Formats: sequence, structure tokens, C-alpha cells
Amino acid sequence: MSLHYIFIALLLTAQLLPGALAAPPRRPVDVPFGRNYVPTWAFDHIKYNNGGSEIQLVLDKYTGTGFQSKGSYLFGHFSMHIKMVAGDSAGTVTAFYLSSQNSEHDEIDFEFLGNRSGQPYILQTNVYTGGKGDKEQRIYLWFDPTKDFHTYSVLWNAYQIVFLVDEVPIRVFKNSKDLGVKFPFDQPMKIYSSLWNADDWATRGGLEKTDWSKAPFVASYRGFHVDGCEASVQARFCESQGKRWWDQRQFRDLDAQQWRRLRWVRSKYTIYNYCTDRKRYPAVPPECRRDRDI
Ligand SMILES: *[C@@H]1O[C@H](CO)[C@@H](O)[C@H](O)[C@H]1NC(C)=O
Repeated sequence: MSLHYIFIALLLTAQLLPGALAAPPRRPVDVPFGRNYVPTWAFDHIKYNNGGSEIQLVLDKYTGTGFQSKGSYLFGHFSMHIKMVAGDSAGTVTAFYLSSQNSEHDEIDFEFLGNRSGQPYILQTNVYTGGKGDKEQRIYLWFDPTKDFHTYSVLWNAYQIVFLVDEVPIRVFKNSKDLGVKFPFDQPMKIYSSLWNADDWATRGGLEKTDWSKAPFVASYRGFHVDGCEASVQARFCESQGKRWWDQRQFRDLDAQQWRRLRWVRSKYTIYNYCTDRKRYPAVPPECRRDRDI
């Protein structure tokens, strides 16, 4: 082989590799619910299909329901395929979140606020560090989340927490320890999901009440694979920290395309962002200064 060919081969490898590594590995879709998760309450309000590779949470006037991961995790990529309550879902909230179990707990939240038929859902996100939240952001989605399954995920490593909807970053919370902001780094979290009635606040601030004549309300789930570093609740550090794909360099910041997509979500779909709420926070919260466009 001539030098010329070797040069071209090197050039190709150099160009292909970063792209190939930047996407998370494909995750198996048919992992049964029971491998990684258990019901949390109202066990009879969870229905299992296809050998448990798909489940449905049912909310009626007696109760909602929920489930949680068996394991606790310190960093990883946590995703779920969810189809939200269809039709008149006003007053209902479907949540998918990570939370530690201590009193000064850390939490990373997706909350989907239902609506009257044909009216848009709101996706609210929040981050708690050391027991303190108050970092809400709210967006509309660019699709109807009740028609199909969509993927909602959290990438959490020592550098950032990224909220993604179908691989589009909708929010990033950078580690701003250097600015005096607490970042979740040493408390393992479990993964939770639930469907419940929250008509005192969820839809148009509580004006729209749950119409129980439309019950039962049903949300469907798939994708029970977990890509995380499993830790015991007491463990401060996870053995594999620094070795897994979500820790690698290309996941420590958004790339240019991801920043562009995040800006698109911000400019087109954002309803509320605590970072820009000067009434509530006269001074920009320090972690928000890490956001490139605030
Ligand atoms: C429900 O629909 C109304 C009217 O379009 C809208 O103002 C509101 O933001 C929607 N979502 C929720 C959860 O209230």
C-alpha cells in the first residue's frame, strides 16, 4: 500500500470516529419491566403487555400509581419511551424523574402536565440540589406526545445534566461548583415514574379540573433498559466512574449542533424559564450564566 492510501485511510478514520462516538450506543428496547423496576404503590393499577416489555399506568378516581428502579445510580444515561394520556388529560400529571433518598436530596424531574382534548401538554423540568429546587423551566413540545411513544432522557455525569426529548436537548444544567452552586455528585439516585391527579395546580394553574367521567387515564411505557453506574445508597463513589460512555469527553458539554437545537427549543417552545424570571430572581442565578444565550 502506498503512503498515499495510508494517508487517506487516516484522514477518514479521524473524521468518522468523533461522529461515531458522539451518539449514545443503541439501547435494547424489549427489556422487561421487572428486570430493573418494581411498582411503588397501587400495584393493581399497572398493566403488563408483551411479557412486560410494555406497561400501562392507570389513574382513576380511586388512585394513581407509580414505579421505581430496583437499583440506585450515580451517573449514567436514563431514558424512557412514554406515550402520554390521550384525549382529555387535564389535571393529570405524568412524571419521570431521578431522586436520591436523603433529606437534603437531589432530584432531576420531567413532569408532563395534561390538558383538555386538543390543547397542548406542558413539559416542566426541575433540578433539586441539596434539597432545594425552585429551578423550573416549562416548554411546549413540537409534537403531540399522546399519539406515539417518544424518548425522554437524562444524561448525568460530573460535568452536566442534560434533559433530552428524542435526542434533542431541551435543558442543560452545568456543574457550576466553581460559582458556588451545588451539583448532584455524590448521592445515588433511583429512577421513578408516576401518574397522578394534580388538578389543584397542573392545568392552567389549577383552573382546569380532572373530568372523572373520562377515567381511566392511561400512560404507556417501554424501554426499561438502564445505562447507569449502579451504586448502593450509601456509596459515595461508583466504581466504574470515569469508565462508562456517558463520562467520556464528548458528553461533557453539548456539541455545536446540540447547542443549536437547544436554542431552537428556547426560542420557539419555552413558556417559562426561572433563569429569566427577574421578578423571582432579581440577580441571574449563577448556574444560568453558563447558558450561552442568557
Ligand atoms: C392547556 O391549554 C391552554 C390553552 O391552550 C394553555 O394556555 C395551557 O398552557 C395548556 N397547558 C397546560 C398544562 O395548562
